[in-house]
Amino acid sequence: MPNKARDRWPRSCVELEAETGSKPVPEEGRAISDKTFTPANSLLLSPLHVGKTHLRNRIVLPPMKTNMDLAGPQALAYYRVRAEGGAGLVIVEATPLDQFEDGSLDAGLPGLASAIHEAGASAVVQLFHPDRIGGKRVAPSTIDDTRAATTEEVAAIPGRFASAALACRQAGFDGAEVHGAHDYFLNRFFSPAHNQRRDEYGGSLEKRMRLGLECARAVRRACGADFLVLYRHTAVADYPLDDSLVFAEELGRAGVDIIDISPSTSQEGSKHADLAAAVKSSVSCPVIAVGEMEDPEAAEAVLAEGKADLIAIGRALIADPDLPRKIMDSRREEIIECIKCDEKCVGALETGVPIGCSQNPRVGEEHKSN
Ligand SMILES: Cc1cc2nc3c(=O)[nH]c(=O)nc-3n(C[C@H](O)[C@H](O)[C@H](O)COP(=O)(O)O)c2cc1C
Ligand code: SF4
Repeated sequence: MPNKARDRWPRSCVELEAETGSKPVPEEGRAISDKTFTPANSLLLSPLHVGKTHLRNRIVLPPMKTNMDLAGPQALAYYRVRAEGGAGLVIVEATPLDQFEDGSLDAGLPGLASAIHEAGASAVVQLFHPDRIGGKRVAPSTIDDTRAATTEEVAAIPGRFASAALACRQAGFDGAEVHGAHDYFLNRFFSPAHNQRRDEYGGSLEKRMRLGLECARAVRRACGADFLVLYRHTAVADYPLDDSLVFAEELGRAGVDIIDISPSTSQEGSKHADLAAAVKSSVSCPVIAVGEMEDPEAAEAVLAEGKADLIAIGRALIADPDLPRKIMDSRREEIIECIKCDEKCVGALETGVPIGCSQNPRVGEEHKSN
């Protein structure tokens, strides 16, 4: 099977070592594990207060689509188990706005929030505007068979994010994340290559930032000061890093509590933590770094060097939801290692079946008794 994400994300040091037989030279901020990590004085395991929310540690489960029914028992158990594993913040996967609007999540959201909270983690949902409106493909500008969203449709989007975020708040979640990353609809408004609009949502950087900022402000206004507002942005794509730095600054002004910096497919081999660090230098709010950061020494170095405030660990928490606890309890030899094969996690995204893991047969089966 083609392994798209493996091409996308930089290979781990462990893989490089296996392939070349020599220990690779660590990138800056990406220490090779020498087992010097001590849980007792670790920044990674230290709490962080963001607004009124207390995060028990700096480990984040980033949003990852599961292809499970979020209102059903499988997703409930999947997320409960990951919160029980010790992550400080659990971000529930990209959830399309229309699923809030058609009521299909109403029965499931409160239980999901409670399950995550009962396990001691804070809970956020990632809100996603798909590349479709009314079932038809849309984009900022017309490309081939995809039509440009009208100004009226675009102007309605912040309100749709606000309503979805309010539903999350009412269900008991601590916050919501606006998915403005990874070259999807919202991210494309930021991109001069994709956004050739001539209305107030395209053209200058100010206008390309407008939709994202309006979404963030609308969520903040609808949900109040004590609700966490996160924004996920891909820094550097077909736009310069400086544009992302201005945007991050504006997101801070718009009331965003945490900026989640995620690399895009075009950043093969880039230094993920350094992108987060660049953004962090232009904002006062906490920043999340992500991308093969499960090695505790490497994660600790990123935090200690002030490059980020929170570390998201994705596939490694699919493979072993108990990874944080095992780090805390100095049981690292028990960690089920994510080998970055992308077979049953990313692979499932292409087939539509619920995700699993080639290293851990329990993934996706958490709702079944042992
Ligand atoms: C199966 C899978 C699903 C994902 N779904 C989402 C998603 O819903 N929203 C999102 O912003 N990123 C998504 N991502 C990206 C992750 O949040 C994360 O940024 C990426 O996996 C890199 O982190 P890692 O190297 O620790 O896995 C997904 C990744 C995987 C593997
Ligand atoms: S299938 Fe499992 S081991 Fe392979 S990349 Fe996904 S989470 Fe990691």
